[in-house]
Amino acid sequence: MNPENKNNLLENVVALCKRRGFVFPSVEIYGGLAGVYDYGHYGTLLAHNIKDLWWKHFVEEREDNLAITTPTLAPEAVWQASGHLAGFSDPMVVCKKCNHAFRADQLADQKKCPDCGGELGDQAKFNLMFPVAIGVGGKNVNTAYLRGEIAQGMFVNFKNIIDTMHPDLPFGLAQIGKAYRNEIAPRDFLFRVREFDLMEFEYFVRENEWEKYFEMWRAEMWKWIDRVGITRDAVHELEVAPEDRAHYSKRTIDFEFDYPFGKKELYGLAYRTDYDLKQHMAASGKDLSYTDPATGGKSVPHVIEPTFGHGRTMLAVLLSAYREDEMNGETRTYLALKPEVAPVKIAVFPLLKNKPDLVARAREIFKQLKAKCSQIEFDDNGNIGKRYRRQDEIGTPFCITVDFDSLEKGDVTVRERDTGKQERVGIEELTSYLKKHGGF
Ligand code: GAP
Repeated sequence: MNPENKNNLLENVVALCKRRGFVFPSVEIYGGLAGVYDYGHYGTLLAHNIKDLWWKHFVEEREDNLAITTPTLAPEAVWQASGHLAGFSDPMVVCKKCNHAFRADQLADQKKCPDCGGELGDQAKFNLMFPVAIGVGGKNVNTAYLRGEIAQGMFVNFKNIIDTMHPDLPFGLAQIGKAYRNEIAPRDFLFRVREFDLMEFEYFVRENEWEKYFEMWRAEMWKWIDRVGITRDAVHELEVAPEDRAHYSKRTIDFEFDYPFGKKELYGLAYRTDYDLKQHMAASGKDLSYTDPATGGKSVPHVIEPTFGHGRTMLAVLLSAYREDEMNGETRTYLALKPEVAPVKIAVFPLLKNKPDLVARAREIFKQLKAKCSQIEFDDNGNIGKRYRRQDEIGTPFCITVDFDSLEKGDVTVRERDTGKQERVGIEELTSYLKKHGGF
């Protein structure tokens, strides 16, 4: 990639996402809503593939993480006990002239407005939780909050899980779902938004074992980074200083990524101690302790929390996969996505749209492959060159072309995305060929 394109990496990825139906600004026809995005067809497929892979990696392929799903709404009492109403805030300053609000910790000059040059007011703490009025009016209205983190769903269900699943320590509770934060200054595409998915688990351990499991999850997080296709060299660990840690954490490592707009947080790994369970015990009056089956002794487990922002994963995956090169004398753009997350794994083309024999054979092959892999596309729009360009831009690892030789010799052309290399493969061998090369 030439240096100029690298400088425009974010703009190029945003443009590709719009052009190819991955990500759109939300409610665009009404002028948009800051910090909220819609995913189109390919964006939705990529988003699902990342969630599915995360679930497979951290839940299905293990025995120690249990599944849970909790609502996005929770009553005030939960957020009071968790400390989010008191402590989940960012420092804010507002310009006295244009009224624009900024995060004070992100401004180079604390006195001058970066938008209009006006004078900035005093710093104040701004709480990020979204309140929601629940009920039908008058005394029946209660304040609830859209969840600022999904973790509280795991803590308030701790007793239910212990009573129904009887797990031994250590064990985790894993969830994927929406979180909401009224960010002062949403920005940088999917990086800082107001509504996003989190993929997260709370891992309950004995207090004297927290360091061992902190290290275990630290290593596992690196395995995930490799598996999902985030450039390893662009990720850096940051030991978060005590004064910068969340109110519940005794140790946090941020996994930062080299975004085009700077090195910033991608994921977090926190030691939450027994803070949350103890807070909910005190506020609810319920016993959230764990009884050791061997000794009968009771204790409140401690918690290690690996957390993965889904939108930031999408962004880091797209930035890691974006490529430009020269092919057949032309600049081409492609996404070198790992086959496991690519929205489309295989595209099948008839060489010509107006030759019924070719179309019928291509359809047959498409149907056979679709029975084995649902993320496959039939494409007969435009010429072959145009179809390759489209599939390259959405990151399709393999394109299969059915031509006149296919009708006679029973083979097809398989083109590999990254190299553009084309090979003739017998139709009978297609499945094993694609399996061997990672297409399924
Ligand atoms: N339960 C712990 C927790 O929520 P956090 O560091 O506040 O921790 C978790 O958030 C992850 O959510 C971050 O590591 C980041 O990936 C993502 N994230 C946080 N704020 C975000 C925002 N405004 N937009 C998109 N992703 C965000």
